Amino acid sequence: MHKHYFFVIIITTYIEKVGEKMILPNLKEAKKRTKDPVLTKQFNISNDLVLIGQGKSYYIKTYGCQMNERDSEDIKGILEHIGFKEVFDYEQADLVLLNTCSIRENANDKAFGMLGRLKHLKQQKKDLIVGLCGCMAQEEIVINQILTKYKWLNFVFGTHNIINLPYLINQNMIFNKLMIEVPSIEGNIIEGIPSKRLFNHKAFVNIIYGCDKFCTYCIVPYTRGKQRSRTKEDIIKEIKALKKLGYQEVTLLGQNVNAYGKDLYNNYNLANLLEEVSKLGIARIRFVTSHPWDFTDEMIDVIAKYDNIMPAIHLPIQSGSNRILKLMGRRYTKEDYITLFNKIKKKIARVSISTDIIVGFPTETESDFNETIDLVNTCHFDNAFTFIYSKRVGTVAFKMEDNIQEKVKEQRLQLLNKTVNKYFLQNNLKYENQIVEILVDGIDLKTKQLYGYTDTNKLVYFPGTENLIGHIIKVKITKPKTWSLEGIIQSEN
Ligand code: 5AD
Ligand code: SF4
Repeated sequence: MHKHYFFVIIITTYIEKVGEKMILPNLKEAKKRTKDPVLTKQFNISNDLVLIGQGKSYYIKTYGCQMNERDSEDIKGILEHIGFKEVFDYEQADLVLLNTCSIRENANDKAFGMLGRLKHLKQQKKDLIVGLCGCMAQEEIVINQILTKYKWLNFVFGTHNIINLPYLINQNMIFNKLMIEVPSIEGNIIEGIPSKRLFNHKAFVNIIYGCDKFCTYCIVPYTRGKQRSRTKEDIIKEIKALKKLGYQEVTLLGQNVNAYGKDLYNNYNLANLLEEVSKLGIARIRFVTSHPWDFTDEMIDVIAKYDNIMPAIHLPIQSGSNRILKLMGRRYTKEDYITLFNKIKKKIARVSISTDIIVGFPTETESDFNETIDLVNTCHFDNAFTFIYSKRVGTVAFKMEDNIQEKVKEQRLQLLNKTVNKYFLQNNLKYENQIVEILVDGIDLKTKQLYGYTDTNKLVYFPGTENLIGHIIKVKITKPKTWSLEGIIQSEN
């Protein structure tokens, strides 16, 4: 049963109202979780904006996670809808957009570094329009920096109002002064945005936006708003259309896909959705990211049952110490995680499990850290993304004393990386002489080899020709390495 209401409203009226003044982000507002229904609206652009990009070019730089990559596909689609053409050298573009990430401080630094280069370019090219969007735009502290140090920017918009982009460009062409439109409260779900997809053979499909978990170190619940599921009908419609276009793989996307449906249905969850998507017959289905808290037996059973649901699960642990997990607000213990891990390994044949780990969380002792190493020695992950804790303004952990020396954090990261790498290689060695199916993604510019992923999400390089891109082929693994495998083609179908 739906809890959403459905309205189709002409977006331009909304745009005219919000465009009259600057809209600045506010952390307190962003933290709120209202019970207001989330509306689903259809993409619509007023006729007077449809041609504003004709004869002009754009360049977009995307930082951060798949969610941002997916947003950039929408942004590109919108820009091309109003006449802009994409270029791949920012110095040649009339409009440069940075779609930013704020998960850790170094992500912010990267975008600010790029802004430095763009300032220089803008001094030479007065007509250049530069915009900033994405997660950094949602941060109060970043907006304050922009208002003092980066006033030369043309516009800033957030993660909740991508569809306002044509309006912001148009206003800028007329008034040529900094405009900031970053609402803190999530807007509606917009369907029917004309995306320009990155690939022709594999696609990300959003199933749930936002996050309500509020892990104490994480900025995402503030930058991406409350948890909002898309309707199953809209998701299925999108995947059916992708299949018709010849897509071989879809990745169901969300900050926590395992919470899918909770805000929308009484009796329909990720297991039901995966089953329904599986029956559409698309060759490969993936999903990211899973929070261990919401991972049910029903989901494991569905993944195990259907061949086209890939046996690759990303299951962030973050720390192996129960004391730190509690401080992180993760809602599970190391023992809960290991039980779930073993259940998944037992029920899903050949499954690979990857994870995320943070070192140097406030108060982490040598003994807490050793528990993380012990956990890695228990779980033997197939892949792991490892990070040094980064303080994010507004989060609960921000107020905790960051009492660990930088040098110690780096030493811990090094030791952790050495440990996880050992298991990557150990797991990869099992693939030697195996014949695996690969969906070919492209040609590596350096080695001139084809590359693609196994069902278990292992990156494989092998000699071959470009015509195979987008096809699923059989490859024999000849040389397993730590981060990838090398192979030779066995058969082209
Ligand atoms: N510092 C370090 N790593 C972080 N992550 C999220 N927030 C932070 C932070 N403040 C990591 C987590 C998460 C991954 C996407 O990024 O491991 O799973
Ligand atoms: Fe951040 Fe935790 Fe939500 Fe993941 S589950 S996006 S780490 S708050």
